[in-house]
Amino acid sequence: MNANSLATPITKRLEGKVALITGGASGIGEATARLFVRHGAKVLIADVQDELGHSVCKDIGSESIFYIHCDVTNESDVEKAVDMVVSKYGKLDIMFNNAGISGNGKAQILELKNEDFKRVLDINIFGAFLGAKHAARVMIPAKKGSILFTSSIASVMADDVSHAYVASKHAVVGIVKNLSVELGQYGIRVNCVSPFATPTRMLMESMPTMEMNKMVDVVSSIANLKGVVLEPEDIAEAALYFGSDESRYVSGMNLVVDGGYSLTNPAFSNALKNLSS
Ligand SMILES: NC(=O)c1ccc[n+]([C@@H]2O[C@H](COP(=O)([O-])OP(=O)(O)OC[C@H]3O[C@@H](n4cnc5c(N)ncnc54)[C@H](O)[C@@H]3O)[C@@H](O)[C@H]2O)c1
Repeated sequence: MNANSLATPITKRLEGKVALITGGASGIGEATARLFVRHGAKVLIADVQDELGHSVCKDIGSESIFYIHCDVTNESDVEKAVDMVVSKYGKLDIMFNNAGISGNGKAQILELKNEDFKRVLDINIFGAFLGAKHAARVMIPAKKGSILFTSSIASVMADDVSHAYVASKHAVVGIVKNLSVELGQYGIRVNCVSPFATPTRMLMESMPTMEMNKMVDVVSSIANLKGVVLEPEDIAEAALYFGSDESRYVSGMNLVVDGGYSLTNPAFSNALKNLSS
């Protein structure tokens, strides 16, 4: 992370806003919580990693952030998290449905356990749906709000990740589009961000024996955009845009933050290189 990005921003783009971020104890959710607080938002992070969630709040060291235990697959947990933020701050402006897991990317379909498939869908899409549903419950009467999801580059291409993950991230885009149509009449915007690989706990767990530096090298070597490595903070910047009034007319969008990776297919040029070597 660039040291300058820790400085207090000149313009606080979320002053007066209230946000709830699922999966906020780690990775992209944590980076977003930090950025939102710096931009003046009140933030509730909701996660199942309680110790980590509390330590993130302590480290941020602001009265503008607090933690709640919330398993996004459990409707009463999600309901409680939304109710808590509303009772504490009187409203909910930004709901960031970000919690997710990747599933077993190595398993071929015949080996794939049904319960593993269902677990990924349960967290990545059902959990995100519950977050959107309870956010809509309080945003509809307020006639405003921004509901945001973390999808993935796996929403626009298929590669070496689990079938359940690709299915769930495509589904996120589907719910974004349909919800943006339903909720537009209430002034509520619905969008998602789709990151390329960025070194978080989820990515590292997909290759447990690999060191972080090596992972960054691998990701950089396949990236289309060179000279910069995608960090969770870059996705947080996209979330900041969707949460702020700068995107006040943007709804139904899947913002793919991949440096053009999903536009490329190096198979032909690699085959030519192999022929000439
Ligand atoms: N890191 C990447 O390369 C990448 C790329 C594309 C999309 N994403 C997406 O970004 C989102 C955040 O992942 P990350 O990369 O920051 O990984 P991460 O593992 O650092 O963070 C995910 C967080 O979600 C939480 N979580 C998992 N299950 C939960 C549940 N049932 N209820 C509440 N919280 C739960 C975890 O405890 C964790 O804190 C995910 O939706 C993921 O699919 C990540």
